[in-house]
Amino acid sequence: MSSKPIVEARGIHKHFGAVHVLKGVDLRVAERELVFIIGPSGSGKSTLLRCLNRLEAPSSGSVVVDGIDMLDPKTDINHARQRIGMVFQSFNLYPHMTALGNVTLALRKVAGKSRTEAEAIGRAALDRVGLADRAEHTPGQLSGGQQQRVAIARAIALEPRVMLFDEPTSALDPELVGSVLEVMRSLRESGMTMVVVSHEMGFARAAADRVVFMDHGQIVEQGAPAEIFEAPKEERTRAFIGQIQRH
Ligand SMILES: Nc1ncnc2c1ncn2[C@@H]1O[C@H](COP(=O)(O)OP(=O)(O)O)[C@@H](O)[C@H]1O
Ligand SMILES: [Mg+2]
Repeated sequence: MSSKPIVEARGIHKHFGAVHVLKGVDLRVAERELVFIIGPSGSGKSTLLRCLNRLEAPSSGSVVVDGIDMLDPKTDINHARQRIGMVFQSFNLYPHMTALGNVTLALRKVAGKSRTEAEAIGRAALDRVGLADRAEHTPGQLSGGQQQRVAIARAIALEPRVMLFDEPTSALDPELVGSVLEVMRSLRESGMTMVVVSHEMGFARAAADRVVFMDHGQIVEQGAPAEIFEAPKEERTRAFIGQIQRH
């Protein structure tokens, strides 16, 4: 990895009470890189993502995103978080607001855009996820895949430097997964730096630069998708890959 990292996490430990959830994780993500994180349930993938934008405070270690020290108490965390888009398994849209209302909310309240400006940016973001004609629909009038695409539009409207995806397709009916992966693929083609926790192996093979396998709060092994999926070096990786491929 030659280009400068957008994300640089070093020595991340996280304890929840007596439970040691992250045990010294180092993760560098270069500009325009798509890093895929896989691993068993409970291995610490979500906690790691949440430590990157300080939704969780690591117990120790350092996190620098786009040159900003995310753990420095002097850092304006709300401002810093605008550079980091996050998409969750549950879409977290406001049910009483339209798609456009959901996408423009942070533009107006956090980024300080006028209504007119926010709506122009919001409509462009909805267009990028293929939902230009759904701007006035509320979440209840949209499919799960469309709702997740609204959530992606909401994140990209803030022009983040990196996007974090935590199992973005896990809550979707199988026939709706493709539309969300398609949007992620186009984001990737536009040069977005992305960290994706997902079990969508086909997508990982096609789009990921690097696959990171986590188990028990540590990175066990990482490498190109073909290496990790076809020739994993570690027994734990082999066992996990074998399991998910049987599904
Ligand atoms: N807020 C929390 N309080 C206590 N334990 C937590 C909390 N969040 C996660 N954990 C624990 O941390 C471990 C890792 O969880 P998580 O990061 O969600 O794993 P993954 O995303 O890989 O499934 C699990 O054992 C989980 O129960
Ligand atoms: Mg998780």
